[in-house]
Amino acid sequence: DWSMAAYREEAIARIRAQVGDGKVICGLSGGVDSSVAAVLIHEAIGEQLTCVFVDHGLMRKDEAHEVVNLFRGHYNIPLVHVDAADMFLSALQDVEDPEAKRKAIGRLFIDVFEEEARKIGGAGFLAQGTLYPDVIESVSFSGGPSVTIKSHHNVGGLPERMNMKLVEPLRELFKDEVRALGKELGLPDAFVGRHPFPGPGLAIRCPGAVTKEKLDILRQADAIYLDEIRKAGLYDVIWQAFAVLLPVRTVGVMGDGRTYDFVLALRAVTSVDGMTADFYPFDMNFLGRAATRIINEVRGVNRVVYDVTSKPPGTIEWE
Ligand code: XMP
Repeated sequence: DWSMAAYREEAIARIRAQVGDGKVICGLSGGVDSSVAAVLIHEAIGEQLTCVFVDHGLMRKDEAHEVVNLFRGHYNIPLVHVDAADMFLSALQDVEDPEAKRKAIGRLFIDVFEEEARKIGGAGFLAQGTLYPDVIESVSFSGGPSVTIKSHHNVGGLPERMNMKLVEPLRELFKDEVRALGKELGLPDAFVGRHPFPGPGLAIRCPGAVTKEKLDILRQADAIYLDEIRKAGLYDVIWQAFAVLLPVRTVGVMGDGRTYDFVLALRAVTSVDGMTADFYPFDMNFLGRAATRIINEVRGVNRVVYDVTSKPPGTIEWE
């Protein structure tokens, strides 16, 4: 892609001009945005970059491993991997309100990140994979008044506190452009084409209090749902697809016995930028197949429902 090749060169020149011979720390989330930002910055300034991956234990199945392998193994980019799953679970204990979850996660994320940044020491710059929609969604929503529907956590006041300057090489780009840039930079297709994933992760896909047991159930069910979507050849036409574990238990039958287990909701939407979205009109046979597999393979779920709400009036996530 000619325009992305040109953009890449331009962006690299801009990063070099901004950073000089300074040190940069980049927070990796495991998602496409921060990964593309990190690879781009690494191309620009090489070993002046260190990545920090605060693993909050709220990622999808196998995702944390994949990120570490990609960065250490494939790109050989210096990466600090902090396994903070237990700390995040404690911080989330008994927290039910969606915004309170985001705040708890955001606060702890900053604390953990800040400590790692101090250990690395001497970095004058902090890199983030902020996109254009992140910039505008925090200012206005659907052309309406200036409100924030959901507070997206990022590293907040950290740059000022640590006297660091922000490097945000993706600030002018939309998601599809970031994907094109990622391809241009040689990131694997499967990685670049990944559905967006929210910073607070599975915590906002477990309405009500988050527990390790619920996260484990959700992770398994979500992986089966996505597997069926891939097998049906639908992954790339869908913007985001995921499961939500509801804090509701219902009665079912299994063999000769009665079950009393959780309800799982499936969600899939098409969208251009996440600002508006339409629910995906799956074939009922597909939904039946996914539901049967989930109920048979995941202990703790005995009923599956499909969400047919578009955005607006719904949001993409349930919290
Ligand atoms: P909603 O649910 O607001 O989601 O329609 C729009 C897009 O934003 C993602 N999302 C988040 N991303 N932190 C994030 O980094 C968050 O707290 C958050 N909440 C929602 C959501 O997955 C969708 O892509």
